[in-house]
Amino acid sequence: MTAAVSTAGLTKRFRHQLAVDSVDLLVPTGAVYGFLGPNGSGKTTTIRMLLGLVTPTAGRVELLGRPMPAAASDVLARVGALVEGPAFHPYLSGRDNLGRLDAADRTTDPRTARVRIDGALDRVGLLAAATKRYRAYSLGMRQRLAIAGSLLRHRDLLVLDEPTNGLDPQGTREVRSLVASLTEEGTTVLVSSHLLSEVQQMCTHIGVMHVGRLVAQGTSAELRAGTEPEAVVETDQPREAARIMRELGLLDVRVAAGSATGVVGAIAPEKIVAACVHQGVPVVGFRVESPSLEDVFVSLTGEGFDVSS
Ligand SMILES: Nc1ncnc2c1ncn2[C@@H]1O[C@H](COP(=O)(O)OP(=O)(O)OP(=O)(O)O)[C@@H](O)[C@H]1O
Ligand SMILES: [Mg+2]
Repeated sequence: MTAAVSTAGLTKRFRHQLAVDSVDLLVPTGAVYGFLGPNGSGKTTTIRMLLGLVTPTAGRVELLGRPMPAAASDVLARVGALVEGPAFHPYLSGRDNLGRLDAADRTTDPRTARVRIDGALDRVGLLAAATKRYRAYSLGMRQRLAIAGSLLRHRDLLVLDEPTNGLDPQGTREVRSLVASLTEEGTTVLVSSHLLSEVQQMCTHIGVMHVGRLVAQGTSAELRAGTEPEAVVETDQPREAARIMRELGLLDVRVAAGSATGVVGAIAPEKIVAACVHQGVPVVGFRVESPSLEDVFVSLTGEGFDVSS
């Protein structure tokens, strides 16, 4: 099966800075691909190169199996995109702005424009505000309108650069369910974010950017592979609990205030609780947990993920 997006050695240098450094992106057809990275890690620059908006310094891009930018005129009609700063007319309503976008697309039938436009407005929850002028829209409403603009027709691939920027939690949830419904219709989605929590819930695949390089790529399960479940014993005697856990054969046992944690391995979890209780260590709580993707990312990028800026 051809990939919806693939790049080889994709690189962009701005004067002194390597913004994107030899990136090999692979977005399988049908995937929801979360393109993650802290602010300034090169996500938008990569996306702009995919869409032919920025010329790469080096490397190749294929969209829907066709080389970019050579096949741009064929391929881009099948690709919807939301990239920073879409140009909407401030004095026109949301509906009229979409009307202009729709009219610019010569492959669509003008007689059914209203159906398409109101359908797109409806999907992003803007129908009630359809007649309001763009300049009176809030940031979240503007973002929704930009998403609606990419929904005016069926797309094989949708590229969304930080689509939840400026949206409230409700709006963020709506984008997630929108992405899910698009996937069901057969659209491959590439969505960038600097928030892991946001991407984790909607993506089948994840790529992580760090200072211009793609440091990890794969399914969530693949990214977690190699990490092992850990047992956490909550107790007011964590040192004693840790000793018992080591004796049982748990690895990498650590003590914290009010708990002891260790890698479970082949040991049956119930034995851990039984051994603690048997030796007089009161167990207040017990759980077995897999390291979160957040932990994986911190180890990959060497920093907390939610860079707030
Ligand atoms: N036109 C440009 N000229 C010079 N440097 C640029 C240009 N565009 C981007 N950069 C630099 O390239 C790096 C990557 O920027 P980019 O916008 O791709 O990051 P990003 O991952 O999208 O960040 P954010 O999460 O903040 O949107 C940054 O250091 C940025 O300052
Ligand atoms: Mg960006």
